[in-house]
Amino acid sequence: MTEGRPLAARLPRALRSLLAPFARNVLKYLVLRDPSIRSQHFGTEQMANLAAQFLETNEIRGSYLEFGVYRGSTFAQFYRAFRRHRLDVPMFGFDSFQGLPSAGDADADPGFRRYAEGSFACSEAELRTELGRRRVPADAYTLIAGFYEDSLSPALYERPGLSPAAIVFLDCFYARSTRAALRFITPTLQDGTVLMCNSYFRFKAHPDHGERGALAEWCRQHPTIGLTEYAKFGTTGIAFIAHLTAATR
Ligand SMILES: C[S@@+](CC[C@H](N)C(=O)[O-])C[C@H]1O[C@@H](n2cnc3c(N)ncnc32)[C@H](O)[C@@H]1O
Repeated sequence: MTEGRPLAARLPRALRSLLAPFARNVLKYLVLRDPSIRSQHFGTEQMANLAAQFLETNEIRGSYLEFGVYRGSTFAQFYRAFRRHRLDVPMFGFDSFQGLPSAGDADADPGFRRYAEGSFACSEAELRTELGRRRVPADAYTLIAGFYEDSLSPALYERPGLSPAAIVFLDCFYARSTRAALRFITPTLQDGTVLMCNSYFRFKAHPDHGERGALAEWCRQHPTIGLTEYAKFGTTGIAFIAHLTAATR
């Protein structure tokens, strides 16, 4: 019934209907940096926000387990995302605090970019300082030191809050390290665990190398665990959702 109304009376509504979507998009994309933007700017920070939203929407409870913490940039982004969504998520970081081990097996192939042993070294004390600087309080997280082949013992499953896992973030490059991390997290998975591989498309995205190779091997060994592809992020990252009984892949 707007046709019969004078133009002056219709103008505010017409203006509003023009401006409202514009304002909504400014808020969504520029202020909130909404994760629905799919572009090269969809980085780890947006992924952290999306994963937190996924937990909230699906009422998934559990821990955050990060394998390869380095200086804590991703760790802090997840802490902030959990805070933003008012999620109480116990956080665990696993790292040698001596950097990368040497590349082994197929990952030592000189056809791919290689890193020197010890690259990305950051001591536990440095990391704690860095996390403090990024306003992550010390009582919000637990750090487990050591190379995964030695440090990931079954005794860790007893740590309060560690299991089940709501989010697993793998960022340790090599297949051997990823294999050890995947072996460890297997009993902590639940339907809906978000499993992220930050270096999935390294090694030129080759299906037999690095995180991608280790994940494919692990999937073959665990046919009852299904993975649904959820999102790609950053330059080399991918996120899956785990299912304990589905054959989805
Ligand atoms: C690329 S950095 C991780 C970056 C980090 N996620 C961030 O947000 O900046 C890789 C980390 O994995 C750790 N790492 C790699 N292989 C490991 C292993 N086998 N055992 C323990 N730590 C390992 C390294 O010490 C290093 O801190």
